Amino acid sequence: MRVGILHSRIRQEEKLLLAELEARGVDVVRLHVEEVPLALAPGGPPPPFDGLDVVLERCISHSRATAVLRVLDGWGVPCVNPARVADVCGDKLATNVALCAAGVPTPRARVAFTPETALAALEELGYPAVLKPAVGSWGRLLAKVNDREAAEAVLEHKATLGSYHHSIFYLQEYVEKPGRDLRSFVVGDEVICAIARNSAHWITNTALGGRVENAPVTDEMRELSLAAAAACGGGVLAIDLLEAPQGLLVNEVNYTMEFKNSCAPTGVDIPARIVDWVLEVGAGRVVTPARAPLAAGGGV
Ligand SMILES: Nc1ncnc2c1ncn2[C@@H]1O[C@H](COP(=O)(O)OP(=O)(O)O)[C@@H](O)[C@H]1O
Ligand SMILES: [Mg+2]
Repeated sequence: MRVGILHSRIRQEEKLLLAELEARGVDVVRLHVEEVPLALAPGGPPPPFDGLDVVLERCISHSRATAVLRVLDGWGVPCVNPARVADVCGDKLATNVALCAAGVPTPRARVAFTPETALAALEELGYPAVLKPAVGSWGRLLAKVNDREAAEAVLEHKATLGSYHHSIFYLQEYVEKPGRDLRSFVVGDEVICAIARNSAHWITNTALGGRVENAPVTDEMRELSLAAAAACGGGVLAIDLLEAPQGLLVNEVNYTMEFKNSCAPTGVDIPARIVDWVLEVGAGRVVTPARAPLAAGGGV
């Protein structure tokens, strides 16, 4: 088995995955995303992509990851996760559309293109509400607006100072959650474990200091997580769940999951489970939706 690992900075997660792959005796080809030119021409994959049974994508940048995954998809190289999944999960608008189409409960959201229509949408959602970039991670550039005046200020700042990425206003209802959110880890058709991220701040990301503890997987968590994963194309996914008063809501689906803080509290060897899945895909025992049509627009 020949496994490519597409990466940028080698973080703790990539070290663990590489160690696990090497322990299994597979032939590992490291593909640094900044060092691999991509030949857009007919025919099979050129070196260093030739002869790979599967590629595990571990890039930090969504735009670079999706670019390479699209090319690999065209060459017919199976990927974990494939381009279609990255496209849906890397863009919160695309995720929301996929979840709604599958009937998976998610916070009410609106999209608007001008500050005026965004304000009208916020009035409809009610305050507090959340503004976030459609493409982003680690809790960056999220704004909780508690009233119209705060909303006007954030919208004006975005319209005046923001880049292209902020020209689409992605707005969500604020979910009154109990000082934490939940994250479940899905591999194939299994929820392998889950954590709670506790924080005094409404943004609970561990990158911002959220504290991690084990969260036993309830039937509701399992059912919802698997439905969310299926809605986004399946594979190896981390599902962010918010505990709303009326039940769980799926906030986000992450396709290049971070897990370094989650193995110890859950007692689950997450990199080993990911590698199990990668080897299944590489052996052709799990068919990833290669060459599936990409979502319109894709990531930026
Ligand atoms: N609508 C919301 N209601 C309540 N909390 C939210 C909402 N949206 C985001 N959060 C909090 O902010 C965190 C980061 O938001 P998320 O949408 O996952 O963005 P990122 O991709 O940056 O992680 C979530 O894990 C959650 O704690
Ligand atoms: Mg998140």
